[in-house]
Amino acid sequence: MTTLRPGDRVHLVSRKGRRYSIVLQKGGVFQFSGERLLHDDLIGQPEGLSVQTSRGTHFIALRPTLAEYVVKMPRGAQVIYPKDLGLILMWADIYPGAKVLEAGIGSGALTMALLRSVGEKGCVISYEIREDFAKRAQENINQFLGPTTNLIVRMNNIYEGIEDGPVDRLVLDLPEPWQVVPHAVTALRPGGVFHRNLRDAASNLEYRRTVRPSRPPDGGTFGLPHRGKANRARRNNLIRVFLISVRTFLILIPMN
Ligand SMILES: C[S@@+](CC[C@H](N)C(=O)[O-])C[C@H]1O[C@@H](n2cnc3c(N)ncnc32)[C@H](O)[C@@H]1O
Repeated sequence: MTTLRPGDRVHLVSRKGRRYSIVLQKGGVFQFSGERLLHDDLIGQPEGLSVQTSRGTHFIALRPTLAEYVVKMPRGAQVIYPKDLGLILMWADIYPGAKVLEAGIGSGALTMALLRSVGEKGCVISYEIREDFAKRAQENINQFLGPTTNLIVRMNNIYEGIEDGPVDRLVLDLPEPWQVVPHAVTALRPGGVFHRNLRDAASNLEYRRTVRPSRPPDGGTFGLPHRGKANRARRNNLIRVFLISVRTFLILIPMN
């Protein structure tokens, strides 16, 4: 059982299930509809304890889960939401001990999910071009995970190159991932996985145009991400084309 400490982010959950997010400070006060709750009543107590405000309203004090934290934490760049974080870990095949290169760090949501999955024996290297985002992300990560020894943040433009190969996994969440493909070919270890998060259809098209001719001839396999949707769309198109042909054929028969 872990006790609550100054600096911890805590969610106060009411009986109606409402959540109020606070960061514990010695001498701090949580104000709630004219009621007060002293942070000192929580500090040093076990997580999950039930507390009362000055007028007797009950709350349970819980550390947020990662999914709860990423939607409430301060943001620089737009974060990846929990449902997609889970999918990315699966499609990028992140495993304990992996060396993962990520870009960009944004607000740090994906970085935290990666750090948890690679564990203490793995490491995450994150490239970012904006210092303010890198700073914000590192504060968020520190707030949730505490000090980490297996995260390296570099102020690097990944479109210009990758200096940290070979890596096991390359995970991208930035506007033009196709610009990274030529560097990925040499930075990824043979059998490594390249995963990119594409936020719109135009990017998807551009990415596919780039990847096809650059796919390495051997060794540096690109484990391409989830293609189920694209394949389904292509199959549906084929089915549609086929149905139109059949219909045309049927119409033509009586005319002949
Ligand atoms: C959508 S945000 C990433 C959000 C992050 N995955 C998260 O969950 O919080 C995109 C980030 O990529 C960074 N970026 C854009 N182009 C880049 C580049 N060429 N090299 C490195 N980082 C880049 C941006 O500054 C921004 O922080």
